[in-house]
Amino acid sequence: MKNYIRHDEWSIIEEGFDPKLNRISESLFSLGNGRMGQRANFEETYTGDSLSGNYVAGVYYPDKTRVGWWKNGYPEYFAKVLNSANWVGIDVKIDGETLDLSTCEVKTFSRRLNLREGVLERHFVARMPSGREVEVWATRFCSMAEPEIGAIRYRIVPLNFDGRIQFDSFVDFDVRNEDSNYGERFWEEVEKVSIPRKSYITCRTKKTDFHVCTGMKFTILQNGVKAYFEAQPYARERYVGNLVSVMAVRGKETVIEKFAGVVSSLYRSKEGLMDYTREKIKAAAETGFDRLMADHKAAWAKIWEECDITIEGDTAAQQGIRFNIFHLNQTYRGDDDRLNIGPKGFTGEKYGGSTYWDTEAYCLPFYMSTHDPKVARQLLVYRYRHLDKAIENARQLGFTGGAALFPMVTMNGEECHNEWEITFEEIHRNGAIAYAIHDYVRYTGDESVLAEFGAEVLIGIARFWAQRVNFSKEKKKFVILGVTGPNEYENNVNNNWYTNYIAAWCMDYAREVLAKVEGASPFRYAQILESTAFDAPAETARWAEISENMYYPSDKKLGVFLQQDGYLDKELLDVDELSPADRPLNQKWSWDRILRSCFIKQADVLQGLYFFEERFDLETLRRNFDFYEPKTVHESSLSPCVHVILASRLGYRAKAYALYLRTARLDLDDYNNDTEDGLHITSMAGTWMSVVKGFGGMRAVDGKLSLSPYLPEQWKGFSFKIRFREHLFRVAVSSSSVDVENLSDTSAEIVVHGKHFRMSKRDVLVVPLGDS
Ligand code: BGC
Repeated sequence: MKNYIRHDEWSIIEEGFDPKLNRISESLFSLGNGRMGQRANFEETYTGDSLSGNYVAGVYYPDKTRVGWWKNGYPEYFAKVLNSANWVGIDVKIDGETLDLSTCEVKTFSRRLNLREGVLERHFVARMPSGREVEVWATRFCSMAEPEIGAIRYRIVPLNFDGRIQFDSFVDFDVRNEDSNYGERFWEEVEKVSIPRKSYITCRTKKTDFHVCTGMKFTILQNGVKAYFEAQPYARERYVGNLVSVMAVRGKETVIEKFAGVVSSLYRSKEGLMDYTREKIKAAAETGFDRLMADHKAAWAKIWEECDITIEGDTAAQQGIRFNIFHLNQTYRGDDDRLNIGPKGFTGEKYGGSTYWDTEAYCLPFYMSTHDPKVARQLLVYRYRHLDKAIENARQLGFTGGAALFPMVTMNGEECHNEWEITFEEIHRNGAIAYAIHDYVRYTGDESVLAEFGAEVLIGIARFWAQRVNFSKEKKKFVILGVTGPNEYENNVNNNWYTNYIAAWCMDYAREVLAKVEGASPFRYAQILESTAFDAPAETARWAEISENMYYPSDKKLGVFLQQDGYLDKELLDVDELSPADRPLNQKWSWDRILRSCFIKQADVLQGLYFFEERFDLETLRRNFDFYEPKTVHESSLSPCVHVILASRLGYRAKAYALYLRTARLDLDDYNNDTEDGLHITSMAGTWMSVVKGFGGMRAVDGKLSLSPYLPEQWKGFSFKIRFREHLFRVAVSSSSVDVENLSDTSAEIVVHGKHFRMSKRDVLVVPLGDS
């Protein structure tokens, strides 16, 4: 755990430069706008330790799987989030000496990421080996208003000399992925143009043939006005740039403004890519840095208007939640159904693929509650677009008749994960995809998705489960063997309670949805039967039979569901009994030891109880929570939020708060010692859920928004905005009351602590909190 980021309500601030922390800061200060993003690499040369990272949404590389012992069914490739052209580079030489913070004495240094405005600023004073001192301010952003545009303003002042400053403003496509399986380069050059003050380069990915054009244009200002300068364009393989050299006077500022464009063939034709990019950059430069930045800030202001959560009395918690909300918005904007929310977003390479079950299980609620329903709907459409591939995927594994198994990790619908047993056996992911449809309909009330595409997805999923079970003569029940549950610290287990439960639920839900579609849209129903070759009477009867006779491991004496058949055979210890030297287990213990231990990486039985909470009484929730929480090491970032929500429901407030801190500041304080690889973007949605569903007790019940808030004792108050169906509410919780404001122009019915209230438009409802 680290503690070097200054606490501030609206900014992430680092003061002082410690090269050992540089990779962590590069992750924390990352920028993005849904279409592109980048780590906070320096503009000027830096020869110290750094992970250079620029990423373009939807552009990936299928890196051939590297395993020692190939087995049938292995994914062919591991899809890489592809490191793309570095457009931020502005190398600086002063009288021939390179400005490089790794070789300078860094006298002052600070970085600030303004979360409200989406702007990254860096300031330093450095003494170069020659004794020359410079002061630099660098400001940059990836425009939220113009998602193909980024801009930098780099200001430099010689402090103790007059001299010649040479800027080398470039676009570097000669990049690699640190995690490349075979050390290969993934980009091939297509074309490049470098003329005075402007450079453009298009490269294509091997195999996938994505084309990306990245270009830049820049101007230099001295004494506040555009300076005349001779520029020397140059180019080499996968690299274009311009050199300029200006005289700088002691104490006087020289400014370089760089406008960059990043355009991919996902959005423009390959043929016209460079022309289009050139036009975009030209327009951006004409608009000017200040105006572009103002438009960008205005776009962020609009986002915060709907998404902000305020926390009074605890700056660390306030900073944590805003940091999470900020990065979720930088990662996914919901305007393209080919994109999704990668576990590292645009902040690092680790975790290939962009889509895990994280999206459906954790991220969907955030986007449903804080954005137009179209955004969450895109996430469902994304999976529908992959249905054929999911059917193909299942077919390759031996399933038939339209059974669909969605991948655990994917970019384009194909399974693309390196490992086999651990993740591939996590077939529970199919359940989360069905659950997301249910969650979306329950929350938004938009049933149109069911007839449009939901029913087809559910048929594929239910068919899969119906074939994946087998009937145990001994148990006289249907069982599911050889799976990994959400807890990845066990693998190839039989009857993971969560998997069995969600499998049966999927078959029930598919039947319910089909009956609904048949009733509401018989014509569409007939089409679905035909396109899926669905034998309705036989298949639904089989699903019902399986669901009614599913086996659920449980222990009567303990009164708990069992994570899997063999769980009680383990040596049952609590996390408290572990020595700190053993933690995190995944870095300290052998895999063999982890797999046979009772320690749980992340919510598993509790994940099921969270999803299906309304089907269980409070005592059942309590017994299971009391049994499993002490055995959970939370070594997945996705884990604490589920425990916060359940702990809140059970009144375990201290526990809920302790776990909340762990999710909210997971990256800021580097809890798991891995922030340098990139941020845990998907678990950030879990932080949001911890506040809104945990402390706010928010649920959608019978078509109404229901709240059961309480105030963590460390806070003076908190508030959040929430969209529910056609309404927007602001909920403010203080120590004495919960105030709900209906910000919409229509009346609404709302439930607070179990009581129903009717609110007219723009009404404010004040409900005393009492002892709740
Ligand atoms: C978790 C998975 C998750 C993946 C990506 C793993 O550590 O155990 O549940 O899907 O990370 O976030």
